[in-house]
Amino acid sequence: MTPPRHYAPSQKVLHWVIAALIFALVPIALTMANLPDGSLKNALYEWHKSFGLTVLALALARLLVRAARGAPPLVAGLPAWQRRAAHASHLALYLLIVLVPILGWAGTSACCAPVMLYFTVPLTLPISGGMPVGEAILRVHQVAAFTLVALVGLHVAAALHHHLVRRDGTLRRMWPGRAAG
Ligand code: HEM
Ligand code: HEM
Repeated sequence: MTPPRHYAPSQKVLHWVIAALIFALVPIALTMANLPDGSLKNALYEWHKSFGLTVLALALARLLVRAARGAPPLVAGLPAWQRRAAHASHLALYLLIVLVPILGWAGTSACCAPVMLYFTVPLTLPISGGMPVGEAILRVHQVAAFTLVALVGLHVAAALHHHLVRRDGTLRRMWPGRAAG
């Protein structure tokens, strides 16, 4: 497959909508986990789960577009270790934006059914084992989620390094509306 010269508009939209959802749902997670029981805590759990399930749906759509269309080659002139780091971190990000919500979904289905999408659509997975199984899965969810957060931190630092230090077109080509490849 010949690589495209630039990201498709759908790839850019999916990239930034998923990023915005993750930037919302992680602070929601940290807040909900530390609040005393009550209606605010419950509401934040619901928003966290719904945003997370939305990330999962969009991530799967994004992987389909990526598989069908590919991605533009990295900018020229990068040292080999940076090319390897970019490919590996992009792969890990794709993996985690699918795995983290699946773990959250599975853990919540086991311990704390029903799982409702935006307070309305029931989406509980048939996972038995109750609280012990749910809690074990949610611990893995938490570790995977913090790994994702750390990787996003590196990813943003790399994007800013490209933009501000190397001054190449890496950030611009993911920016909406520009076709520069
Ligand atoms: C990309 C998607 C997601 C990310 C980045 C994410 C992130 C996190 C983080 C960082 C925590 C830990 C909060 C803390 O302990 O301080 C957490 C907890 C939790 N997440 Fe997610 N989450 C995602 C999706 C989901 C989904 C889809 C569900 C369920 C449908 C879910 C259910 C939960 C639950 C129930 C907890 C609390 C666990 C506990 O109280 O120990 N998450 N999430
Ligand atoms: C939770 C947040 C984010 C996730 C999960 C994420 C994930 C990804 C993934 C998987 C790719 C690879 C695209 C592909 O090859 O198909 C990518 C590319 C990119 N991301 Fe992010 N991203 C996030 C946030 C950000 C932020 C905040 C920035 C900028 C400050 C950014 C800048 C970029 C750029 C510039 C590229 C293109 C890299 C290239 O083509 O060489 N991302 N992102």
